[in-house]
Amino acid sequence: MPQTHRLLELSRMDVQERYKLLIGSIVPRPIALVSTVNREGQPNLAPFSFFMGVGANPPAVAISPMRRGDGSRKDTLRNIEETGQFVVNCISFALAEAMNRASADWPQEVDEFAVSGLTPIESLRVRPPRVAESPIQFECQLLHLLPIGEGPLSGTLVVGQVLVAHVREELYEEGRIRLEAYDPIGRLGGSAYVRVRTDVFELPRPGPEIISTYFKAER
Ligand SMILES: Cc1cc2nc3c(=O)[nH]c(=O)nc-3n(C[C@H](O)[C@H](O)[C@H](O)COP(=O)(O)O)c2cc1C
Repeated sequence: MPQTHRLLELSRMDVQERYKLLIGSIVPRPIALVSTVNREGQPNLAPFSFFMGVGANPPAVAISPMRRGDGSRKDTLRNIEETGQFVVNCISFALAEAMNRASADWPQEVDEFAVSGLTPIESLRVRPPRVAESPIQFECQLLHLLPIGEGPLSGTLVVGQVLVAHVREELYEEGRIRLEAYDPIGRLGGSAYVRVRTDVFELPRPGPEIISTYFKAER
């Protein structure tokens, strides 16, 4: 059955509308609670759902802090530019509210660890502290900073190499992360989230036999 699609010309949409289109369409998004420090060592914590894995050799992750509505840079980006280091603290359902508190527009001098009730603990290889309560923590060294445009809501792609990971003991079994023990959440559009534990289905990737079967059927 033919379906109709509405054509959206993004250059004619305002920035907020484009943003809403992206965050409603790209779902669910994983959440990185990112800890950084400034040059003086003052800690900062904020969540980012423009977050992805990039590759495994070197192991790399990316986030994108966007400029604020007034065009200013977020503290996370400023700190990474100053120090070249950050920690990605992965988020489970139990940490959702604390993570959300850290996301408020706190003045620069506020330590989001204190206001969110989360516990900073020393990292092994980088200066920013980890979040003790986070089930999986990645200590990262900056590899690339790529500004994407300029002005309000423009992004900067921050790519970091994962130097070490800290995985809570009961989550890690035979080289795999146990989803039930992890209980991660994803960000949807608006202020909606999803808990990743229901409706999980298995779909193994096809092996080479699918190719030969396809071509046999063609003949
Ligand atoms: C779940 C969640 C995901 C978010 N993802 C992003 C993101 O990918 N990029 C961004 O610029 N802001 C994002 N934000 C908003 C920032 O967390 C917020 O602007 C924060 O105050 C930035 O803090 P900072 O100035 O200390 O870096 C997100 C907020 C929440 C609650």
